[in-house]
Amino acid sequence: MEKLLEVKDLTKQYALGSLIARILITAVDRISFYMDQAEIFTLAGESGCGKTTTAKIVLGFEEATSGTILHSGKPQTRKEKVWITEGVQAIFQDPFSTFNPLRTVDSYFFETVKNYRLAESKTDAIELIDQKLRSVGLTYGEFAGKYPNEFSGGQLQRISIARALMTNPKLIIADEPVSMVDASLRMAIVNLFKKLRDELGVSVLYITHDLATAYYVSDRIAIMFRGNIVEMGTVEQVLMNPRHPYTRLLRESIPQADPRQTWSDTVTLAELEHDEYLREGCKFAGRCPMVMERCRREVPRDLFVGDVLVKCHLYEGSGETSPS
Ligand SMILES: Nc1ncnc2c1ncn2[C@@H]1O[C@H](COP(=O)(O)OP(=O)(O)O)[C@@H](O)[C@H]1O
Ligand SMILES: [Mg+2]
Repeated sequence: MEKLLEVKDLTKQYALGSLIARILITAVDRISFYMDQAEIFTLAGESGCGKTTTAKIVLGFEEATSGTILHSGKPQTRKEKVWITEGVQAIFQDPFSTFNPLRTVDSYFFETVKNYRLAESKTDAIELIDQKLRSVGLTYGEFAGKYPNEFSGGQLQRISIARALMTNPKLIIADEPVSMVDASLRMAIVNLFKKLRDELGVSVLYITHDLATAYYVSDRIAIMFRGNIVEMGTVEQVLMNPRHPYTRLLRESIPQADPRQTWSDTVTLAELEHDEYLREGCKFAGRCPMVMERCRREVPRDLFVGDVLVKCHLYEGSGETSPS
């Protein structure tokens, strides 16, 4: 069956510095993954590993340096932004920057109704808007005529999800949708994704640095490090029985005792380590507790241990290898 989304060998390079002292950053380095219908797939990893860049390319906001994006089998090109016709919607980190502070929030919904011709009359429009709001736990009555600042961050993020639902999307791309929301409300919002999956058959590409919410909502997960997918499989396999040394490190740094502390606070990592970007072998070699000599020279292949993809020399010869 055709996949809802297929990303094949996607690479994105950015040039930094002047013309003379130019360096190329490979923000995304030949990654491949797919998504099925009614599935929550997570891209997880620390800040700067290439999650947002991947999302932007899937959404056609940025162009890939190389690689292919297929939405329900249809290739996305610079000219044909097929995500628009294939029912993809996006939700971003900061709901307050999604809405103009001087416009009422409902005006966005009426605009969507008009642009997509979703209703014939105002009464029908209100009914539709109310239905979408109810699926995220709100109602038209408590939202009509209000400005963004009259809502909490959590409410406004629910509202942006409801707005995304207006056009009956097949895929929602949610880039760090709860990182600016109060910790106590995060689970309620990610829970919505499960509800949308189960009740509406919507798929969610969930992008996060938070493994706790990722574990809670994902069907499958890919762990990214410096532009690479280093491990990918079902969330049970990857997070409960991690194989890649980096996934193990991440998992151990999930705070158990203090739920207010986020994972990113507990791992101290340099934001932009050129060393790692420019490293020849495995990008994780410099920090890996299991590092071997070949890791510093040779890029690991995508190996399969059972159904789990692991990009690590430790598993070379341990079982089946990549089918490609
Ligand atoms: N427009 C850009 N120009 C140059 N470098 C960029 C640009 N966008 C992202 N990068 C770099 O690409 C890498 C990946 O960034 P990003 O995809 O935003 O990571 P994440 O979302 O995982 O935090 C980072 O090193 C970032 O600095
Ligand atoms: Mg990001």
